[in-house]
Amino acid sequence: MHILLLGSGGREHALAWKMVKSHHCDQLFIAPGNAGTAEFGANLPIDISDFTDIKNACLFHKINMLVVGPEEPLVEGIYDFFQADPQLQHIIVVGPSAAAAQLEGSKAFSKKFMQRHNIPTAGYAEFTAGNFEEGKKYIAAHSLPIVLKADGLAAGKGVVIAASHDEALQVFKEMIINKQFGEASSKVVIEEFLQGIEVSVFALTDGEVYQVIGHAKDYKRIGEGDTGLNTGGMGCVSPVPFMDTAFMRKVEERIIKPTIDGLAKEKLNYHGFVFFGLMNVQGEPWVIEYNCRMGDPETEVVMPLLQTDLVALFAAMDNGTLADANISFDERSCATVMAVSGGYPGAYQKNLPVNGLADCRMNNDSMVFHAGTKQVGDAVVTNGGRVLAVTSYGNTLAEAVEKSKTVLQKISFEGMYFRKDIGYEF
Ligand code: AMP
Ligand code: GLY
Repeated sequence: MHILLLGSGGREHALAWKMVKSHHCDQLFIAPGNAGTAEFGANLPIDISDFTDIKNACLFHKINMLVVGPEEPLVEGIYDFFQADPQLQHIIVVGPSAAAAQLEGSKAFSKKFMQRHNIPTAGYAEFTAGNFEEGKKYIAAHSLPIVLKADGLAAGKGVVIAASHDEALQVFKEMIINKQFGEASSKVVIEEFLQGIEVSVFALTDGEVYQVIGHAKDYKRIGEGDTGLNTGGMGCVSPVPFMDTAFMRKVEERIIKPTIDGLAKEKLNYHGFVFFGLMNVQGEPWVIEYNCRMGDPETEVVMPLLQTDLVALFAAMDNGTLADANISFDERSCATVMAVSGGYPGAYQKNLPVNGLADCRMNNDSMVFHAGTKQVGDAVVTNGGRVLAVTSYGNTLAEAVEKSKTVLQKISFEGMYFRKDIGYEF
């Protein structure tokens, strides 16, 4: 099979690493990829939103399977674009239709979907410029803290947890009246704050049946002890100790099954990953959000722990045999620690040489996944806020984290920073 993978982050490097292990994968192309993905296939300099260029690459390289890493092309309708084109229809697309990708693309859509299917989620209301005054009254009467969410995609910056009514009002005005995120914040969801521990669960579905392929806990804050600004994710661990059989049964019965049944009932065409962003509130799972793709850096621990052939799973998803797939997991623990650029998640420099990579080749214990890098001549340079995700196996989470930190000590670039306390509470 010739596979084209879209994206350029650590998630894509981990997916590439996993897919090339499959005997179904004859050739892998990554668009645009990074310095790490080039190790496993050919990087193609294509913009992931340019569907015409993607089509031409698929025809030229005789692609049989398109795996979509990030959400933008899915929300923009890449699945539908392939279905509608007689030259592309035969290609297996791993990712939902645009209609189904609204689970991630519109917070208001996903909240209504959960309400329709009785899936536990925080109480909420939605507002636009049309009922702005009503929204102000809603905020004034709301308990603290107040969670405000831009309806559309806002590059991970669209959620604010306001500690006071004044702050909430300011954010509300900024989003709706000053159009902070353009069209994406023309509608705002205001919801109750859920107090608990977050965990992400991942399933692969054909829109009717599903398989759980893993879970992880992400550390989103830049600072140690979960302080400071939100980032895309500074590290992950899996398995999470509280994800025992009893909790997982609740997640499947109350959340995953009703979600997949809801997709089927509403004829929302979905062939791909579902990311369930959950909050464990005193032992009960609630949905914080859906994403229509894998997480980053969650993928960097989920793929190393999944023993099942991923490309075979994609084929099973396509040919209606997903229910029969045998899913097995590595028994070890896994952790990933993200090395980021100085200044991230604020402004940061790019094009800084990354040193020490040659001494840290992937081995049986640790893998260096590239998140934001590019190759310039012989050098690997930084090309993003999140630069490298170092994943390790261990007999315990603490051992896995220690191994990743040891690897990171051999790597350097100007301003490099990583959290030393990933997995601290376990
Ligand atoms: P999202 O963009 O929906 O992932 O939200 C970003 C982050 O905001 C989540 O990962 C949570 O940490 C936090 N968050 C979102 N909604 C809530 C909520 N209702 N209660 C508590 N925290 C939330
Ligand atoms: N790590 C969170 C995400 O991928 O959305």
